[in-house]
Amino acid sequence: MAYFIRAVNTLSIWRRRRKVTVPAFSPKIIENFVEVFSEQSEILVKRLEPRVGTGQFSIWPYLSSYTLDSVSETAMGVKLHAQENPNSLFLQAINKLLHLVSERFFCLWLQPNWLYKFMPQYATHEKNKNIMHEFVDQVITKKREEIKTKHESKSESENKKDFDFDSYKRNSFLDLLITLSGGEKGFTNVELREEVLTLTVAGTDTSAVSIGYTLVLLGKYPEIQEKVHQELCDVFGDSDRPLVKEDISKLKYLERVVKESLRLYPPVPFIARKVLKDIKLSSGYVLPAGSGIIVSIWGIHRDPKYWGPDAEKFDPDRFLPERFNFEHSCSFMPFSNGPRNCVGYQYALMSMKIALSTILRRYRIVGKEGTLRNPFIKVKLQIMMKAVDDYQVALERRVPKTSDCNARGS
Ligand code: HEM
Repeated sequence: MAYFIRAVNTLSIWRRRRKVTVPAFSPKIIENFVEVFSEQSEILVKRLEPRVGTGQFSIWPYLSSYTLDSVSETAMGVKLHAQENPNSLFLQAINKLLHLVSERFFCLWLQPNWLYKFMPQYATHEKNKNIMHEFVDQVITKKREEIKTKHESKSESENKKDFDFDSYKRNSFLDLLITLSGGEKGFTNVELREEVLTLTVAGTDTSAVSIGYTLVLLGKYPEIQEKVHQELCDVFGDSDRPLVKEDISKLKYLERVVKESLRLYPPVPFIARKVLKDIKLSSGYVLPAGSGIIVSIWGIHRDPKYWGPDAEKFDPDRFLPERFNFEHSCSFMPFSNGPRNCVGYQYALMSMKIALSTILRRYRIVGKEGTLRNPFIKVKLQIMMKAVDDYQVALERRVPKTSDCNARGS
């Protein structure tokens, strides 16, 4: 009974909060973040510059600090500068916490709360959790004051207007969560902190992992990489201008590459659900109410029933509208499906496309020669599914201006 009440409470908390977060991720809002991703991607390629021509290295730290800086700026409106400062306290705290949570996830004896308190990991866990909480609490207090001052300086009729998505310009999710939940009477500071940290944790490593897999795959398949580069040449010509939002929808081949990478290497390889009432499957088996189930996204994505006999092959063109089978809406679900799916999926696709296009305009990715028809990347499960070698790649500089575009154009 106690478990049931707790489950219902948790569900009602989730439902109430989800009602606020979904509109905050509407396309009109997230397109305002293009500038942030574009700026942060430029910093990323500058940081990669000393690595050009120096052989294989792990690109993971570069990617994860790019996604952390982008998420913190869009979620809290704060420039963390994790890319320029790998010793940033917040970056170290989040990395240590993720490591501890992952360790706890896979070690049964670390799971009971009463026992964990006696373990040496507990003190480190609490210390880093407090660093993150204090940081976010300060940001929330400042943001509330800012909103209050703005509110007081406006006339009464202006304040009565509903939230206007059209006039929303590059504020953070935190602004939105405060406003959409009802201002002073809406989310409490603790609720805001929980939401902001959920977005930060859910949005950082997931996107970095996906960019990492895509780069490694492009290193294995140079002919596909050249097609991506040709598309970039078509969109940007010989200019080295930063990407703007109108460019994104033109990068259609890159989008297929990203989707195919998410299909073969979904960063979240499975999801868990609790069965609320008996479900009879088409096979005749019954999933009894109360049982827990694991849905394998990895398995679905490689099932020949949906993807054909060459399901394991890296073939971005299977996402061409004329080839993609829309009948099975769950055959492609890197962001899950249904009411509990990923709220940040459009945000993630945008962040990935911007980072990838900025890197690939400047550099050619050289991977470990992949002559096989099917890619093979050794993976490990650490909450997410990551590459064992932490995404080893080498970089070559592209010949500046048009010569590289023309020479390699198909
Ligand atoms: C490639 C990147 C990403 C992947 C593959 C991914 C994948 C997923 C998946 C599979 C779930 C559902 C888990 C389940 O059904 O139990 C999920 C949930 C979630 N994701 Fe993402 N995600 C990504 C990026 C992001 C980003 C960038 C954000 C926010 C900035 C984000 C925020 C969330 C949140 C808040 C939830 C929980 C939704 C809820 O329970 O209502 N994700 N994500």
